[in-house]
Amino acid sequence: MTDAVQLKEELTAKIEAANDLKSLEEVRVTALGKKGAITDLMKMLGKLDGEERKVRGQELNQLKDEIADFIKAREEKLKKEEMNLRLATETLDVTLPPLPRKLGHVHPISQTMEELQKIFAEMGFSVAEGPDIEDDWHNFTALNFPPGHPAREMQDTFFLPSDPQEKNPDFATKVLRTHTSSVQIREMERHGAPIKIICMGRVYRSDYDMTHTPMFHQVEGLYVDKNVHMGHLKGCLIEFLSAYFEIEDLPIRLRPSFFPFVEPGAEVDIGCSRDGGELKIARAENELEQQWLEVLGCGMVHPNVLKNCGIDPTEYQGFAFGTGIDRLAMLKYGIPDLRSMFESDTRWLQHYGFNLYETVK
Ligand code: DAH
Repeated sequence: MTDAVQLKEELTAKIEAANDLKSLEEVRVTALGKKGAITDLMKMLGKLDGEERKVRGQELNQLKDEIADFIKAREEKLKKEEMNLRLATETLDVTLPPLPRKLGHVHPISQTMEELQKIFAEMGFSVAEGPDIEDDWHNFTALNFPPGHPAREMQDTFFLPSDPQEKNPDFATKVLRTHTSSVQIREMERHGAPIKIICMGRVYRSDYDMTHTPMFHQVEGLYVDKNVHMGHLKGCLIEFLSAYFEIEDLPIRLRPSFFPFVEPGAEVDIGCSRDGGELKIARAENELEQQWLEVLGCGMVHPNVLKNCGIDPTEYQGFAFGTGIDRLAMLKYGIPDLRSMFESDTRWLQHYGFNLYETVK
């Protein structure tokens, strides 16, 4: 018996004995792999002469082909067996209902921001942005906050380490912005007048209870031009609030109030009812019984603020307003606790969130 015939018998026996694909692969490597038995024999062909090499070469090539074919046949058989076993043991109940498909939801705050953007875009406002980390100048000083104003104090404002390179304390002192009014300053400094913008974003104050979180969202509006007056402010607010709450004759009133950056300043109330302990935004049937809910601060931009931004207050005047986006969302969508907005509970989002395809109306 030649060594090739013997090797064929040995390998054939091993191939037949291989009961799974893994051991079959091992046999293939020992026969045909780089260091396999047949490969080894072929490597020795170079040492033989002419005729002998030809005969031996044919013999080994034939052996190689036979073994390869045999392995292939065995592999197919094993695969078939494996499939038959799976078909026999695994079952698929096609009558089962499909698994629920989990869709993500748009957060009510994102939804509200989109609604606001759309309302104000229709009134000709463009959208501006500013940084969350502000300096004292943009957050307070330029907005006409006198030194020692309570809003500057520790209990409200998150102070950050000041900038050691900066000599001017207005710019050295860093805070997390406490309101979006800082963006008014940045935008007026950058673009001057006329200007008509809204700014939406995160603001920060050290506070935490059912109606306060250390981070919340505000929208700020600013319109400065040569002839802008309080009538425009009131008209703009009526348009905005009735469009947002989707109530056509929503009653609105302005009450005099104080903010350092406006003169005169006002707080804005919308009509509501609290009958049966439930808060509803609505006009009362009897005007004298109308109840009110405060939603917004506003006023005519203080001349000092315009001056601080390089705008001549004898030539230009304008209005500004600011309000909490989270609160607007809570009121419109009946969300009772502000804190739940930021707890990242997907069950909450499932309930209060919006379907992506329904958000842009
Ligand atoms: N910045 C104020 C706050 O955070 C809100 C505000 C009031 C903004 C009056 C204004 C305004 O632009 O005119 O409470």
